[in-house]
Amino acid sequence: MSRKILVTSALPYANGAIHLGHLVEYIQTDIWVRFQKMAGNECWYVCADDTHGTPIMLRAEKEGITPEQLIARVHDEHARDFSGFHVGFDNYYTTHSDETRQCANDIYLKLRAAGLIETRTIEQYYDPVKQLFLPDRFIKGECPKCGAKDQYGDNCESCGAAYAPTDLKDPYSAVSGAKPELRNSEHYFFKLSDPRCETFLRRYTSRDNGVLQSEAANKMQEWLGAPGENKLTDWDISRDAPYFGFEIPDAPGKYFYVWLDAPIGYMGSFKNLCSKNGLDFNEYFRPDSTTELYHFIGKDILYFHALFWPAELAHAGFRTPTRIFAHGFLTVDGAKMSKSRGTFITAESYLKTGLNPEWLRYYYAAKLSATMEDIDLNLEDFCARVNSDLVGKYVNIASRSAGFISKRFAGQLAPAATDLPAIKAIQEAAGRVAELYEAREFGKAMREVMALTDAANQYVDSVKPWELAKQEGREIELHAACSNALNLFRLLTVLLKPILPVLAGKVEKFLNIAPLAWQDTQSLLAAGHGINAYEHLMTRIDAKLIEKLLEANKESLAPAQEQQSPQRHAEHQQNEAKAESPWEPFCNIDDFMKLDLRIARIANAEQVEGADKLVRLTLDLGNDETRNVFAGIKAAYDPAQLIGRLTVMVANLAPRKMKFGLSEGMVLAASDTTGSVPGLFLLSPDSGAQPGMRVK
Ligand code: MSP
Ligand code: ZN
Repeated sequence: MSRKILVTSALPYANGAIHLGHLVEYIQTDIWVRFQKMAGNECWYVCADDTHGTPIMLRAEKEGITPEQLIARVHDEHARDFSGFHVGFDNYYTTHSDETRQCANDIYLKLRAAGLIETRTIEQYYDPVKQLFLPDRFIKGECPKCGAKDQYGDNCESCGAAYAPTDLKDPYSAVSGAKPELRNSEHYFFKLSDPRCETFLRRYTSRDNGVLQSEAANKMQEWLGAPGENKLTDWDISRDAPYFGFEIPDAPGKYFYVWLDAPIGYMGSFKNLCSKNGLDFNEYFRPDSTTELYHFIGKDILYFHALFWPAELAHAGFRTPTRIFAHGFLTVDGAKMSKSRGTFITAESYLKTGLNPEWLRYYYAAKLSATMEDIDLNLEDFCARVNSDLVGKYVNIASRSAGFISKRFAGQLAPAATDLPAIKAIQEAAGRVAELYEAREFGKAMREVMALTDAANQYVDSVKPWELAKQEGREIELHAACSNALNLFRLLTVLLKPILPVLAGKVEKFLNIAPLAWQDTQSLLAAGHGINAYEHLMTRIDAKLIEKLLEANKESLAPAQEQQSPQRHAEHQQNEAKAESPWEPFCNIDDFMKLDLRIARIANAEQVEGADKLVRLTLDLGNDETRNVFAGIKAAYDPAQLIGRLTVMVANLAPRKMKFGLSEGMVLAASDTTGSVPGLFLLSPDSGAQPGMRVK
């Protein structure tokens, strides 16, 4: 009987670009889902953007748009990136939806009726300038343990200490720079410490219950504490206005904390799918449901998925997840993804550089297991493995035999040798490979498939079609050899299809067959079956593309007048938690004195042909000293009006060769980096200042 399965991946935040780290999860989930569908199960894969919270609200403000506009734009970008990597969601929705709101309200009201919601007044930092309660991550200051400056309100990146924001010395708001004040506010709590939650969670997260991987189950026991010692603390699920989210029923001005409605977004997305295709939502979410529910997540969000979420579901009268699958983090060349090394690689840049998404899908598959271990994208190994396994081994089987069938046998196949050892090996292995897919042991599955591919190649090497083709009277042998090779190729394609859906599609077209399902491993192509002409299936990775990719993702230390590209800007905003401080870190007086700032008279200003932002300035520094500077101020100033006025320049900025000539410095101008006030404002000294005077 076919199983009914609902699968989710974590909902990416709606304020940053999808990168190769994210893709570990979406590719892993997609492979699993594709396998389930090929195996004949009814499987639905839903996801959505995680759209609420302070960072998204502030990011929209910074861009001068509404949060709704921001999340609509990012939704399109995310959907484009996922489809670019062939992640086949059945629904990609948003948490900012009626369905999610309804489900959130419903769960909240049921928890409240069960006596699991409580209000409490808490003291929290408030930004008096921005008029906003500050999340921990938006408060910075000096670490109370080691004294490191500019540390976040929850933990120190320098010494690793964890603390409360109120422990920071000299705290400041990362939003406005203001000194935050402590203010009281009433908050809503989900009583996770309630004995009912504890009892439920001890059983639900136990190793024996099998919902969690054993490493995750161990972690939960740590978080729960030894039996008798309940370490669970109540969970603050409300935030004060202004907040972008859902207002809590009967609590004006109070909003659900983003992490309350985020997992409920799984339900919202599925509910939306149900209304589109007539599925029964309750069949999947009622407490006695016989359907299966799986969440794929990163190990960083285990607490939310293994404690809060099941406890909420269980006590609001819904089913709980069948299993929670946590994966590790991506490293690139053995290190954390880094913007300066260019290894913080966006999905968009990967595709734009012209790399094939299925190369990455295969490489990740070859590296993935069912554990929470981190996985490394080693770029050299990536090229070597894809080129050798996919092009050198797998595609090679078809490319060496297809031409003869087309040219010599009118595209028709001879009967396959059902007892050929290489064929039998694949048919026997299919069940094992299926078990490995089911168990998320994709790396092991790929090792098995590549061993079978080696055996198929050995068969082709042993019969040598290219030699048979040169010898007269050996047509029958040639026909049999190539037909067997294409049968081998078809069987291997079934095993690889969850990973390489587009390539498998091309193979289906070339072999002229219906979409392959798992059971097709047990059949062979009939004698006389006609195939289509072979077209190139996959190219090798050229190492130059990797260089290009790293270059495209490298954060340059751009001179101030260079505009940031929108993509760079998006990468800056990557991590929802890590909002950037608008203030530069401290520098000391010696650092400052390195800048040779001078009063300059604009002796001449003219348009630069072919440049839409630049004005060419000739700056007079007195004593016959002049500098040629290209300034990006064309939008704000008419060159003619600049001639004769005084301004301030950086006189010792290293000269930079530009397309239009050498730029020997920089003029100083003010602008609103949040983008809410348009324009650019050149500095001028008070009257009396003379060209060449030092500014300090
Ligand atoms: N919005 C939350 C999830 C809410 S689920 C109800 C979130 N978003 S995220 O955009 O930061 O991450 C989305 C998923 O991608 C998470 O499961 C996270 O673990 C995963 N990854 C993000 N960066 C990753 C790596 N570098 N490596 C592997 N997975 C990574 O968390
Ligand atoms: Zn510290």
